[in-house]
Amino acid sequence: MRAIDQVSAMQAWSREVRGRDGLKVALVPTMGALHAGHLSLVTLARRHADRVVASVFVNPAQFDRADDLARYPRDLERDGALLAGAGADVLFAPDAAEIYPPGAQTFVTVEELAQPLCGAHRPGHFRGVATVVLKLFSIVQPDVAVFGEKDYQQLAVIRRMVRDLFLDVDVLAAPIVREADGLAMSSRNRHLAAAERAAARCLAAALAAGEAAVAAGERTAAAICAAATDELAREPLARVEYVALVDPDTLAAVTEVGERALLALAVWIGSTRLIDNRVLERRAP
Ligand code: PAJ
Repeated sequence: MRAIDQVSAMQAWSREVRGRDGLKVALVPTMGALHAGHLSLVTLARRHADRVVASVFVNPAQFDRADDLARYPRDLERDGALLAGAGADVLFAPDAAEIYPPGAQTFVTVEELAQPLCGAHRPGHFRGVATVVLKLFSIVQPDVAVFGEKDYQQLAVIRRMVRDLFLDVDVLAAPIVREADGLAMSSRNRHLAAAERAAARCLAAALAAGEAAVAAGERTAAAICAAATDELAREPLARVEYVALVDPDTLAAVTEVGERALLALAVWIGSTRLIDNRVLERRAP
């Protein structure tokens, strides 16, 4: 695996591989501190392209809190070894000045889709995400890019950006990879102390409670969200930021499940913010 940290070198690699060799390139953007969820994206990318570029870049523009950026876990050496093992061909790990050189002043805003859920609680977050992802697309020129359903709203925002800006990239979604007790893998799980780690399983339990409510015949958002919220309330270390039932395509709040609905939540466990989601499907009567 080759490691590249300069934008110009990354562009030259892509020009050569795509242009001269006619190979298909996949991009897996990450912020590092990799886990099996990230590596599943690399595995999916491998199946859809001849070469896989994984980027590791802790993007300052998408952090709404300075303390979160400062303590975001960084472990580039380990990340490189994991990516090589998962079959990535290039690790692109630029520093912040490479991606945001002095004077950079162009940002991308996806409007409605970025407003609810996490967007309502993290001002500027999706503007930072969309901007860095467009920069990465423009540097790497991937044919395919892979994102995880764990960050469901992020995936929706990126798909919309690709559509609205006519970007020639196929966006693939990868399912959520979970720990044995159901906790969605996340780089931020490293921040959890032992008691908090045990408490964190309440997110998956809350989604399961929502799903069980639907299976038991509940249809209203109020009842389904209450089932999830009641489950979270049983965990003293959990503080709910939001529990929402939304349309899986528009992310607008729904009052009833319909065919499908997305149950999404953000919960603080101590000073760590975790998110999770599940698509609920109404079974045919
Ligand atoms: P990061 O949180 O490192 O996640 C990188 C990718 O891995 C995202 O597409 C995310 O949805 C996916 N991912 C994380 N945990 C996962 C899990 N448990 N199962 C499946 N996929 C998972 O998301 C970002 O970085 C950044 O916002 C980024 C897109 C790189 C832009 O800076």
